[in-house]
Amino acid sequence: GCKQLQIAIDGPAAAGKSTAAKKLATRLGGYYVNTGDMYRTLAWAVLRAGVDPRADEAGVAALLPQWDMHYRPAADGGLQLYFNGETVRQDDIRAPEVAAVVSYIAQIPAVRAWMLSRQRECRALGVIVMEGRDIGTVIFPDAKYKFFVTASPEERARRRFLQKGEVADGATLATVAAEIAERDRIDSTRATAPLKPAADARVLMTDGLDQDAVIEALLARIAVEDRP
Ligand code: CDP
Ligand code: CDP
Repeated sequence: GCKQLQIAIDGPAAAGKSTAAKKLATRLGGYYVNTGDMYRTLAWAVLRAGVDPRADEAGVAALLPQWDMHYRPAADGGLQLYFNGETVRQDDIRAPEVAAVVSYIAQIPAVRAWMLSRQRECRALGVIVMEGRDIGTVIFPDAKYKFFVTASPEERARRRFLQKGEVADGATLATVAAEIAERDRIDSTRATAPLKPAADARVLMTDGLDQDAVIEALLARIAVEDRP
């Protein structure tokens, strides 16, 4: 069968995880799996269903049995996320309204259990670079490689502020910093699968590193036998 290898990349918001994971997957001839997009898709769907993700935990949990989500290989060589058989649109799930509620959805234990099985199924895709908050700690505790990619709160706010389409109209560096800080607070203090480095993860602080420097630092840790 095909070679299976999991590389876990965790870290706080706007640290550069997606950028690094995407490039690493390309370099290793594997698939890039974004679990944040799965949580964002769920948050978007909950909002669309008219359920309040902040106040109605039971209401959110009640929606899950009728829903499904999975990644499938796409024509471009990457993966496409599907929700109930329909392709997920980045424009929908990167919206500021979704970012504002996604951490509330992600702290619900029923939601995390629902995600766990779907994310573990991605193993079958072969070589995967999976990005999120709990990949090295919970989803793939036996992953061969685990990285925790981070940057200072100021640097992360700056990076997110410069990303078009991901900040609300009228946002300032200060409001973006506050939104990220709030999301990090909820993500790191929740009872189930909180954001934290796995005990055996390599922590990479990326302040002052550009994207190429980050990817080289990650690649340097990958054994020759795992590079194509
Ligand atoms: O792109 P950004 O770093 O802003 O966030 P993301 O990776 O898209 O994740 C959005 C949110 O989903 C996070 O703030 C977490 O609340 C949640 N999440 C999670 O709880 N566990 C994961 N493995 C991935 C995301
Ligand atoms: O996935 P995550 O939210 O951790 O971050 P990202 O979406 O990969 O990166 C957030 C922004 O920071 C992007 O616009 C990247 O181009 C930028 N970035 C950077 O300026 N320097 C780095 N070393 C990594 C990312």
